[in-house]
Amino acid sequence: MTAPRVRVSDEIAWATSQLAEVGVASPRADAEWLMCYVLRIDRGRLLIADDLSDDQAWSYRDLVARRRTRVPLQHLIGTAAFGPVDLAVGPGVFVPRPETEWLLEWAVAALTEVAHPVVVDLCSGSGALGIAVATLVPTARVLAVEKSADSWQWLNRNITACDVASRCRAVCADVTDAGATVAALAAVAGSGPGSRGAAPVADLVVSNPPYVPEGTGVAPEVGADPHAAVFAGDDGMSVITPMLALVGRLLRPGGRAGIEHDESTSARVLAAAAATGLFTEVAGHDDLTGRPRFVTMRRSR
Ligand SMILES: C[S@@+](CC[C@H](N)C(=O)[O-])C[C@H]1O[C@@H](n2cnc3c(N)ncnc32)[C@H](O)[C@@H]1O
Repeated sequence: MTAPRVRVSDEIAWATSQLAEVGVASPRADAEWLMCYVLRIDRGRLLIADDLSDDQAWSYRDLVARRRTRVPLQHLIGTAAFGPVDLAVGPGVFVPRPETEWLLEWAVAALTEVAHPVVVDLCSGSGALGIAVATLVPTARVLAVEKSADSWQWLNRNITACDVASRCRAVCADVTDAGATVAALAAVAGSGPGSRGAAPVADLVVSNPPYVPEGTGVAPEVGADPHAAVFAGDDGMSVITPMLALVGRLLRPGGRAGIEHDESTSARVLAAAAATGLFTEVAGHDDLTGRPRFVTMRRSR
């Protein structure tokens, strides 16, 4: 007797309803990504995919069951797509979010002003912003700063896997301590990107730091991110405010910076940047839905 066929389309429809039932935000897309992972195919090939083998059907149902417990999709498939790159992610590192691509787009546009830019990515996590900039701007040299030793391991792994190691270095440092971070960056200067003798002189600083005010309600998946990657004190500013002094020290006169922030803290970030007295052109940016996403500034001359 032949085993009944397990159709890809039927399994995806079943998984979609399973995931919708527990409140997963994008149940159909998640069901499809998990199927692609099991079949080892691109999403564009799903429509013409064959039936599932027994083993594939078991694997798929196991993944759907785990996703129902709100394990992030990216932890299940081991990667997160960000701009032009796929980054390895898992426990111990923040999963890059699509909304940060707004800042990436701004950063790449800002770099058209500079021929061979030096870029610093503060609070780099998996390396999302720094590695994407290095990939999209082949003349850029990138320094990525991250405090967490666990995240730093993922960052180094992604720099190598994304083939940008010749132009990208990772530094383990605390961005709220400007002196220590400048010293750590100076220690890698001369051995690669950003070297101009001592500490790097940056044309552009980008940062998606922790910024969510403590106590804010978040989706269950956020529980898989390290707490210190997400939350930043009662007002969401415990990293951004001290980090602004470092941004001022790293940027050359006329250099630019873009910092992502919580929807609720745009006015605070604008005020904190202005209060340093180090920047001009301090401006807030919304996404297409009108949500405030990031603040940009230019180092005074
Ligand atoms: C919101 S995550 C963003 C990661 C990455 N930039 C991205 O967009 O996916 C913030 C990152 O900042 C790191 N971090 C938190 N406090 C820091 C500090 N004081 N100095 C350096 N990195 C810090 C966290 O470990 C985490 O990787």
